[in-house]
Amino acid sequence: QVAAASGHTVVLVDQSDEILKKSAKGIEESLKRVTKKKFADKPEAGAEFIEKTLKNLTTSTDAVAVVHSTDLVIEAIVENQEIKKELFKRLDKFAPEHTIFASNTSSLQITQLANSTTRQDRFGGLHFFNPVPMMKLVEVIKTPMTSQKTFESLVDFSKAVGKSPVSCKDTPGFIVNRLLVPYMMEAVRLFERGDASKEDIDVAMKLGAGYPMGPFELLDYVGLDTSKYIIDGWHSLEPNNPLFAPSPLLNKLVEEKKLGKKTGEGFYKYK
Ligand code: 3HC
Repeated sequence: QVAAASGHTVVLVDQSDEILKKSAKGIEESLKRVTKKKFADKPEAGAEFIEKTLKNLTTSTDAVAVVHSTDLVIEAIVENQEIKKELFKRLDKFAPEHTIFASNTSSLQITQLANSTTRQDRFGGLHFFNPVPMMKLVEVIKTPMTSQKTFESLVDFSKAVGKSPVSCKDTPGFIVNRLLVPYMMEAVRLFERGDASKEDIDVAMKLGAGYPMGPFELLDYVGLDTSKYIIDGWHSLEPNNPLFAPSPLLNKLVEEKKLGKKTGEGFYKYK
C-alpha cells in the first residue's frame, strides 16, 4: 500500500485469490482513512489519490511468474525460517540479476535467509511496523554480505515510500523488537504472577509511560502467533536468557487459536 501510494508499481502476491481479495479490501479501507486526513478539504484530490494508488497495485498467486519483472522483492510471509528459505531459493532462480531481495522478518536472521540464495550481496532486511501506513520507521538491515550499493538502495527505497530508515546489524530483533518483545513478555509474566490485571498494566503503560497502546493491546494488535514465533525462536537461540523465556499463558492462547484482533479474541475480546 505505501509503495503503491508513493508511485511504485507493486504486485501483491499471496497464496489464494480469497486472501488477496481480503487484502485488497483492507488496503482500500486503509487508503480511505489516510485520504480522509491527507485531503481533508480536497475530496476530489483524495479520490484521485486512491484511484492512482490502486492502479499501481495488482495481485497474483504466482510469485515465480511475476518476479522476472521485479526490481525489489519484499517478503512478508509466515515467520518460519525454512518456509522463507524455500521461497527465496525458488525466486532466486527466476529473478533478474539486479533484483534485490529483502525480508520483513521480525526476528529471524537475515544472513540465514540470504544464504538460501546466490545473491547474498543483493539481500537485506526491510522491517516495517504495524500499522505500516501510520508508522514512520523502517529498520534497514545489512548483513556482512550485503553490498553498500544494496544497502543504499534499501535506504533510498524506504525514503521514497515516505519512511524514516534506521540501520541495524543482523542481530536478533534488530532495534525495536529487541526492546519491545521482552517488555511485552515481562508484562505477560507480571499478569501471570497475579501482580496486576492486564487492564491496569495497559492503563499504567499508556498513562505512566506515554505509550499509545498498553502491552496487551499491542500483543493483540501484532498477533499472539507472531509474538510466540518471535519468542520461541529467540528462546531456542538463547535458552538461558530469562527475557526470552516462553509464557504458558501466551502458549495456551495460541493453542486455543486466540491470536488477537485478527481472530476476534486474544488477551481481550473484539467484536
Ligand atoms: N491505515 C490507515 N490509517 C490508520 C490505520 C491503518 N491501518 N490505523 C490507524 N490509522 C489512523 C486512523 O485513521 C487515525 O487517523 P485520524 O487521526 O485521522 O483519525 C489515526 O491513525 C489514529 O488512529 P485511532 O484514532 O484509531 O487510534 P490511535 O490514536 O490509538 O492510533 C495507532 C492508532 C496509530 C495504531 C496507535 O495506537 C499506535 O501507534 N499504537 C502503537 C503501534 C505500535 O507500537 N506498533 C509497533 C508494533 S511492533 C511491530 O509492528 C513489529 C513487528 O515485527 C511485530
